[in-house]
Amino acid sequence: MTRKILITGAGSGFGEGAAIGLARLGHEVIAAAHLWPQVTALRLKAKELGLPSLRIEKLDLLDAYDVKQAAGWDFDVLVNNAGIGEGGPIAEIPLDIVCRNFEINVFAPLGLTQQVVKKWVAAGTRGKIVFVSSMGGLFSPPGFSAYAATKHALEAIAEAMYGELQPFGIQVQTINPGAFLTGFNEAMAENAFRWLDDDINFTKRDAMRRLVADLIGGPGGRLDPEDMINKMIEVIPAEQGHFRNVFPTVIEDALKKHQAEMFARKI
Ligand SMILES: NC(=O)c1ccc[n+]([C@@H]2O[C@H](COP(=O)([O-])OP(=O)(O)OC[C@H]3O[C@@H](n4cnc5c(N)ncnc54)[C@H](OP(=O)(O)O)[C@@H]3O)[C@@H](O)[C@H]2O)c1
Repeated sequence: MTRKILITGAGSGFGEGAAIGLARLGHEVIAAAHLWPQVTALRLKAKELGLPSLRIEKLDLLDAYDVKQAAGWDFDVLVNNAGIGEGGPIAEIPLDIVCRNFEINVFAPLGLTQQVVKKWVAAGTRGKIVFVSSMGGLFSPPGFSAYAATKHALEAIAEAMYGELQPFGIQVQTINPGAFLTGFNEAMAENAFRWLDDDINFTKRDAMRRLVADLIGGPGGRLDPEDMINKMIEVIPAEQGHFRNVFPTVIEDALKKHQAEMFARKI
């Protein structure tokens, strides 16, 4: 069954790769990119690749006019993939930075999703909402909690929305990637160093560097994005499958172990 799929944040990384891969399989894909230069570059790429079923549009989730326009496009799968990551200790990170991370990762996709499901319910469309969460939606490592908190919020939203939309035949699903080398995690880590100041903060820059190295310094923190993109191409159009899709399996196992450890944790 071919589907009509809107992917946000499709100007780079997982979103771009999934959009191209799904279009190659014959799905009608709207790749919505954050910025006009990304739109132009991806339109050229789609032409070179000979992918007429890949339509590229501009969608800045913080632009209400872009969002309203996007809600009117014709699709039956919405992939909330766009996101940013703000690293740094949650005990000290400036609150306006945390708010911005929530605006882009949680409130903006929730706003778009609400508009879309309202339309689907009225039209009787049996669509699917996919939230690109993270392994960070299921654990919260020191130094990365602002981002992890946004993904925990998405988990809560997806879990409840699953039940709320079931009576209308609308499916809800999460995709939870491990740490892949798209540049996203590196940017998240770097973001902390624009405000962390050894003269002001009790978390020293060296300590933050160690947290970054622990999380994404090794090969397990720099997985090949193509593998994740292939998984997304499998999950996104499917009408059957798991509500939660952690990838790779080794991360799913580690997260289950982590949850058990949290119940056993002593203060
Ligand atoms: N890479 C990983 O290891 C990993 C792991 C777990 C989860 N994820 C999640 O996977 C998703 C995709 O990440 P990625 O790794 O592919 O990184 P990415 O290439 O940076 O993709 C994120 C995309 O979101 C876009 N975006 C940012 N702000 C936006 C806005 N206001 N409106 C619309 N789009 C906006 C970005 O555009 P700009 O480049 O213009 O900012 C970018 O194209 C994210 O939700 C991320 O949290 C990634």
